[in-house]
Amino acid sequence: MNPNESLFNNLGGAEGVHRLVEVFYSKVQLHPQLSPLFPEDITPVLEKQYQFLSQFFGGPALYSEQHGHPMMRARHMYIPITPERADDWLNCMKAALEETGVEEPLRSFVLSRLAGPAHHFVNMPHE
Ligand code: HEM
Repeated sequence: MNPNESLFNNLGGAEGVHRLVEVFYSKVQLHPQLSPLFPEDITPVLEKQYQFLSQFFGGPALYSEQHGHPMMRARHMYIPITPERADDWLNCMKAALEETGVEEPLRSFVLSRLAGPAHHFVNMPHE
């Protein structure tokens, strides 16, 4: 991990973030608590997530250019997100980081940056 570079560059730039997002959604689609929330055609979600994470990790601001202000919590309000589902989401991301060969300490650092938003998006009590 190079602390003088963005997370985007540390993850391998556009190619690395794209691969991470692909592997992440392949896990989401197999997850019994997460898959029912997502549309059958995951391609548009995958593309938006790629745009968002590129900018969130300090790369090009692709999401804002295409979709305006992220206001990500508001965009998740209609999705029933329990604390368990936030953890499920983060566990899929952890598995995707491992599978794409992202090593420590970068892996834990990326996860810690995502844990805040994931828990902040919780909008429903325990199941
Ligand atoms: C906490 C658990 C989470 C769940 C259950 C969840 C679930 C979902 C679902 C179901 C969609 C909508 C798919 C559709 O278009 O129908 C979505 C969209 C999205 N999610 Fe999440 N999400 C979670 C956390 C996060 C986190 C932590 C981030 C990034 C930090 C994120 C970023 C996005 C983005 C960028 C989109 C596309 C938004 C758009 O429509 O423009 N999500 N999410």
